[in-house]
Amino acid sequence: MSNFVKIKNKINSFNKNLSIDGDKSLSIRWALLASQSLKKSKASNLLLSEDVINTLFCLKKLGIKIKITKNFCEIIGLGLNGFTYKDNLILNAGNSGTLGRLILGLLIHSKKKIKLKGDNSLSKRDFLRVIKPLEKFGAKFSSNNGKLPIKIQGTNYTKPIKYFEKKGSAQVKSSLMFAALNTIGETTIKAKKSRDHSEKLFKYLKLPIKVIKKKKYDIIKIKGKNKIPALNYRIPSDISSAAFFIVLTALSKNSQLKIKNVNINPSRMGVFYILKLMGVRISKSNIKNYKGEKIADLVIKSSNNIKPINCPVKFNSSAIDEFLLIFIVAAKAEGVSYFKNLSELNEKESPRLKWGSKILNKIGIKNVATKSSIKIYGNPNLKINKKIVIKNFLKDHRVFMTSVVASLIFGGNWSIANKEAINTSFPSFLEKIRYLGAKIH
Ligand code: S3P
Repeated sequence: MSNFVKIKNKINSFNKNLSIDGDKSLSIRWALLASQSLKKSKASNLLLSEDVINTLFCLKKLGIKIKITKNFCEIIGLGLNGFTYKDNLILNAGNSGTLGRLILGLLIHSKKKIKLKGDNSLSKRDFLRVIKPLEKFGAKFSSNNGKLPIKIQGTNYTKPIKYFEKKGSAQVKSSLMFAALNTIGETTIKAKKSRDHSEKLFKYLKLPIKVIKKKKYDIIKIKGKNKIPALNYRIPSDISSAAFFIVLTALSKNSQLKIKNVNINPSRMGVFYILKLMGVRISKSNIKNYKGEKIADLVIKSSNNIKPINCPVKFNSSAIDEFLLIFIVAAKAEGVSYFKNLSELNEKESPRLKWGSKILNKIGIKNVATKSSIKIYGNPNLKINKKIVIKNFLKDHRVFMTSVVASLIFGGNWSIANKEAINTSFPSFLEKIRYLGAKIH
């Protein structure tokens, strides 16, 4: 039972400033792009979580030189198609869909076979979504019905492709963008809207990319085989990690929190707008541009009148990692909330729509879930007095952290398994929760 946390008390009011760890999507993209330059790149505030450390390990195995000092990470890349490694190399993406899918895009030229594997959760996830389009570039794959482990054998004769990415997956889009970097000619990706960090980094690096924004999708054109310049970058704080503290503050009594330097890229701001519509008192200030990304300070205040929401689907992609938390807010609303077109939630580290429903059942909130939607019957007076155990969630970091937040808001006697799950994306999560005054054993 030692990897369980026990929480028996709600959090007391707090009024604090907090800093949040670096953004995971940007940390992984920085490392992968830096590996494609011939120059030395430096990052500060790189998220040193397991997903990012696994990225650095994979790159090391591919011959890339990496140095980590206290505040910086330095990567000296080997240029496009420059990886050096032995035949039948094994890369381990651990728990990270972003690493597993994006790195395949950089391997379409690999002459020697490479095997990609991952942990129990990643091995249940769909890789056909990247295998199919990467095969069109000319790479060859063998897999276990589109699941890990996968073997990739690259080709010298890649050709540019035209592809319609219909899932709204930034991982698929970015994997294809990385493959396009290393392919002579112009690749065109028509992509359903999803986070656009890769596009912003490509533009900042002055790589030949054109993005035409339509209402429901973007058309991205990339000309390959250009030199990648050094990428010196300070990673802004992750709004997906900040979201745990935003919800904790909003649903705690007489509390206030300021979080500085959060990445407020519009393609990640769904959680902000959804929570605002639900009556959460949150504001942004001190907005700055940083190398193509926007950052700001967020101030959150206790919010008493939580309103139900019929959540506009236009926010789905920009809040995709925050829905478990948003469901907890809906549990506190006076009325019925409805969220739809969310089948992608069940494709995450665990089937998160199912887990959202399970957590709500455990705390006594009526809900009706289908494969792609959930109706939540909120109760603003919810109080929990019973024992609640959360386990067997495939060590999904977001299930763990959402459960901790729920316990501190609603009370009850909670045992939550797999505290090591926080290392995936937010290693300092429990430390910060304690800093706000929570008692956790
Ligand atoms: C990510 C994209 C999203 C998100 C994941 C990180 C990225 O996944 O859920 O946590 O960094 O590109 P999908 O691409 O599967 O939507």
